[in-house]
Amino acid sequence: MSDTYQGPNRVFSGVQPTGALHLGNYLGALKKFAILQHDMECVFCIVDLHAITTPQDPKLLADQTRHIAAAFLASGVDPKKAIVYNQSSVRAHTELAWYFNCVARIGWLNRMTQFKDKAGKNSEKMSVGLYDYPVLQAADILAFKGTHVPVGEDQKQHLELSRDIAQKFNHDYGVPHFFPLPKPLIKGPGAKVMSLRDGTKKMSKSDPSDASRINLTDSADVIAKKIRKAKTDSGTVPETTKELEARPDVAGLVAIYAALANISEADVLTQHAGGQFGPFKQALADIAVDVLAPITDLMNRYLADPDELDRMLSRAGDQAAQIADPIVADVRRIIGFRGA
Ligand code: TYM
Repeated sequence: MSDTYQGPNRVFSGVQPTGALHLGNYLGALKKFAILQHDMECVFCIVDLHAITTPQDPKLLADQTRHIAAAFLASGVDPKKAIVYNQSSVRAHTELAWYFNCVARIGWLNRMTQFKDKAGKNSEKMSVGLYDYPVLQAADILAFKGTHVPVGEDQKQHLELSRDIAQKFNHDYGVPHFFPLPKPLIKGPGAKVMSLRDGTKKMSKSDPSDASRINLTDSADVIAKKIRKAKTDSGTVPETTKELEARPDVAGLVAIYAALANISEADVLTQHAGGQFGPFKQALADIAVDVLAPITDLMNRYLADPDELDRMLSRAGDQAAQIADPIVADVRRIIGFRGA
C-alpha cells in the first residue's frame, strides 16, 4: 500500500463469465470473498468485458454472467454486504481503461506471461483486447480506488501492473495521493490449486481435460470419480511437508485437502502419514463433496430465478457506478480535458 494514500480501504476483485467455475476459482477467490465481506467494504465484479477478449456467443453471455452471480451468492457472498455486479453495466471501466492505455508502457505489457500462455504461437491472430486485458484489469480496480485485491496466484503479475499504472499516473500528473497502490491478497492454501492430472500445472478452465478440474457444477459422483482418478505416484502419503517438494502430484492433492478442510498441510499429513492413496483419496472426496454439494445446490436454486439475479445485478450496478463515476470524473479533471 502506498504510504501516502489516505482513502478508505476497499476490496475489489473480478471473475470472468467464461465456462463453469472450478475448485481453483472457489478456493482462490470466492471463498475469500465471502470472508472479507465481514471486515471490509467489498466490490465484486463479473468481468464480461474481459470475457469478450476471446470470442463469446452473444446468446449465452448474459446467462454465463448470471451463472457467476449465482456462484458468488452460493459461496456465501451477501448482496446486502457486498456489491456484486457485471462490468459492462458500469461505463467507468472502459473509460478509465482508455486513460490507462496512455499511461501503461508497451514494454510492461510485453512482459505479461498470461498473454504469452494464452496466445501461444498465435499472438498475431489474438485480439488487441486480449493483449490489453491487464490494463482493463487495472482500470477495474482503480475506478473504485481498490486497496485490497483477493486473487489466486496466477493474477500476481497483473496486480503488479496495476500498481505500476497507479504509481505512474500519480507521478506523471503530480497527484501523489490520488490512486492507492492496490495490494494483492494471495496468501493461503487455496491460492494455487493444481490440476488433478498434473501437479505442476494450475487447475484451469482452459485445460482440455475435464478430469483435470472439479467444476462447481459437478455432481457428488463425478467429484468422487475425478478424485479417485487423480494422479499420484507409487509411494505412500508422506510424513512431512518437506517431502512434498519433490512430489508435485501428491502436494497438489494435499493442498486441496488442507484448503477444503481448513487445516494445515502438516495436519493433513499427520492424519494420513504412511497410508495408501486409496483411503486418502476417499477422505478427500468426502470432504470435497461435503463442501461443494451445498454450494452446487444453492447455485441451482439461484439460477432457477434469473429475474431475481438480474434485479440484484442491476441494483448493484447502480451502486457501483455511484462509487466509480466520481472517481473517473476526477481523473478527467486531472488529465485536463475541456469541460471536465
Ligand atoms: P479468472 O476469471 O480467470 O479467475 C477468477 C479467480 O480465480 C482465481 N483462480 C485460481 N485460484 C487458485 N488456483 C487456481 N487454479 C485458480 N484459477 C483461477 C484467479 O486468480 C482469480 O482470482 N483477470 C481475472 C479477472 C479480473 C480481476 C479484475 C481480478 C478482471 N479484473 C480485477 C481482480 C481484480 C481473471 O481472469 O480471473
